[in-house]
Amino acid sequence: MKTEPIGLLLVGCGRISAAHLSALAACEPLFRLVATVDPDLQAAKSAADPFGAQAFAAMGEALTQPDVDAVLIASPNALHFEQAILAIGAGKHVLVEKPIAETGVQALQLTEAAEAAGVVLAAGHTFRHGPAVRTLMERLPSFGKLLSVEVSQCVFWDGPQAPWWADRSPEEGLILSLFAPHALDFVQLVMGNENPSRVHVEAARHQSGWQAEDEAMMLLAYPGRKMVSVHISYNQPHVHDQKTLFFDRGVAQIEDGEVLRWNGEVLVEPAAGILSDSNKMGGRDLSHYFRAQLSEFAKAINGEQHHCPTGLDAARLIELIDRVREQALLNSSDAINPQLEENS
Ligand SMILES: NC(=O)c1ccc[n+]([C@@H]2O[C@H](COP(=O)([O-])OP(=O)(O)OC[C@H]3O[C@@H](n4cnc5c(N)ncnc54)[C@H](O)[C@@H]3O)[C@@H](O)[C@H]2O)c1
Repeated sequence: MKTEPIGLLLVGCGRISAAHLSALAACEPLFRLVATVDPDLQAAKSAADPFGAQAFAAMGEALTQPDVDAVLIASPNALHFEQAILAIGAGKHVLVEKPIAETGVQALQLTEAAEAAGVVLAAGHTFRHGPAVRTLMERLPSFGKLLSVEVSQCVFWDGPQAPWWADRSPEEGLILSLFAPHALDFVQLVMGNENPSRVHVEAARHQSGWQAEDEAMMLLAYPGRKMVSVHISYNQPHVHDQKTLFFDRGVAQIEDGEVLRWNGEVLVEPAAGILSDSNKMGGRDLSHYFRAQLSEFAKAINGEQHHCPTGLDAARLIELIDRVREQALLNSSDAINPQLEENS
């Protein structure tokens, strides 16, 4: 078991890297940031400097630095597969931001490569790592037989939050690639190893700053007559985040990712200051999820019991997203490519 800090290479120093870096600082001495990579060298330097780490414009040279044990990939989605393959090929453990790859085939390839190399491949399914979800999963067997699940996660992004969002094609997917992994990871967590036997999807685009879908509704049928509905949106200024699970003995609910109720009784509440205004963008403090995610990654690397979604969990998720995207294109291409009115 490794007792020294795990040497980490951060690839991609954009928006979400700030959350990873502050988690890293909070998780010391579990990890030590050794190097950062970003083609924008100034961004790489700004991330590296506070940690006394080295900054690189490309991944190849950074990977050869001594003391790099693990790589955290936080680059645009389209780069995840090739960068993860590179890291695994160099014998490094990897934590890849969601989605770990663009297709199920690629995700499976990553899983097999990691297994062959004997390294950890973990997926950045961040919102598994909160107390409400953790307690729900512990208490699940006591709630009875699961009948159905409703997930609704609706937020507001006024146009692309990173330049590459604007270029995602309907085939690559926007919200189905960027946001669906969170909602569907929750669904997979509660459904265990089962995959849906049927997948129905409608998708639409309301905004003109991007080309692909920004709202979707999915209906999934699971073995044993279990049903799941998932609604995700980038168009809702009054942020709404609800997960409801219907059992034969009652109803479990997770509100705003933080409050867990069983038949109305509160089982988990967030610490003070976590929910300042849950209906506003930025009204939730998400930092504890990133800290927990990183410490679970360390446990996985150190061979301890952990809650990190593995490569196989992530590959099943991407395979499901493949099915969802295919259905969205089949059913809703007119709603994804409407003639949007100017400024609508
Ligand atoms: N877990 C979460 O809750 C969460 C939240 C937001 C984003 N994400 C994921 O994080 C990833 C990054 O998203 P973001 O919003 O930070 O995007 P971003 O565009 O702000 O950041 C990406 C960074 O990667 C850099 N980059 C581009 N090409 C690169 C290359 N070849 N090598 C290294 N770096 C490169 C860019 O210059 C940029 O600084 C995405 O996959 C996204 O899905 C996850």
